[in-house]
Amino acid sequence: MSITKESELSGMKKISEVVGTTLKLMREYAKVGMSTKELDEYGGEILKSYGAKSAPYETYGFPGYSCISVNKEAAHGIPSNKKILKEGDLINIDVSAELNGFWSDNGGSFVLGKDIHNHQPLIDASKKNLRKAINNIKGGVKISEIGYLIETEAKKSGFKVIKNLAGHGVGRSLHEEPENILNYRVKSNRERFKKNTTVAIETFISTNSTVAVELNDGWTLVGNKGGYVTQHEQTILVTDKYPVILTESNEIWN
Ligand code: CO
Ligand code: CO
Repeated sequence: MSITKESELSGMKKISEVVGTTLKLMREYAKVGMSTKELDEYGGEILKSYGAKSAPYETYGFPGYSCISVNKEAAHGIPSNKKILKEGDLINIDVSAELNGFWSDNGGSFVLGKDIHNHQPLIDASKKNLRKAINNIKGGVKISEIGYLIETEAKKSGFKVIKNLAGHGVGRSLHEEPENILNYRVKSNRERFKKNTTVAIETFISTNSTVAVELNDGWTLVGNKGGYVTQHEQTILVTDKYPVILTESNEIWN
């Protein structure tokens, strides 16, 4: 959305802090032996305590408050009593919600406990990549230029990007213009980031796959060539200098 007055900025700051804090607390709450349903309900209670509404649950009829994707699940994993977290699991939590008509979105991947499957290099590459992408965004920068940067950085780290998942405008709804902030360059796309707009930037870095495909449950996405996918996402305010990271309370950089 385009921020035109102070009340809009404070509305975006508030919901961004809520989704950021929820993501952080969920990450800290995740334990070996816990089901993803239990983790999701914990996050749902936190959102409720702020008076915020889960975006996937309310808007898309998603069967959970947050998307929790484990190991081979790339995104949109459904919280379940049957999915029990194990040592060394690669977990992605994505929290998006609405409060007072403002929407914000954030997510992050992490390893539960000891990194016995060596997922950390992929996670580190993903975080570094998102940070670099955000640092290069300001009003007037081409969206395709940031896509090129994300793909190039992923390659340099020995990884790939998922081509059919993307960042997006956010604010008055979960997904708005610009609709596809892709992780690679589409040369024909002449769209530019605009000063004083809020957008969700998300990197999808993978070991093998380049396309996310949906499972029969109608939600869960996995890589077309297997392997693992990590995602890190921040909602930011574009300025004419460095962006303001509105969801930084998630502490996904740490
Ligand atoms: Co998003
Ligand atoms: Co998200």
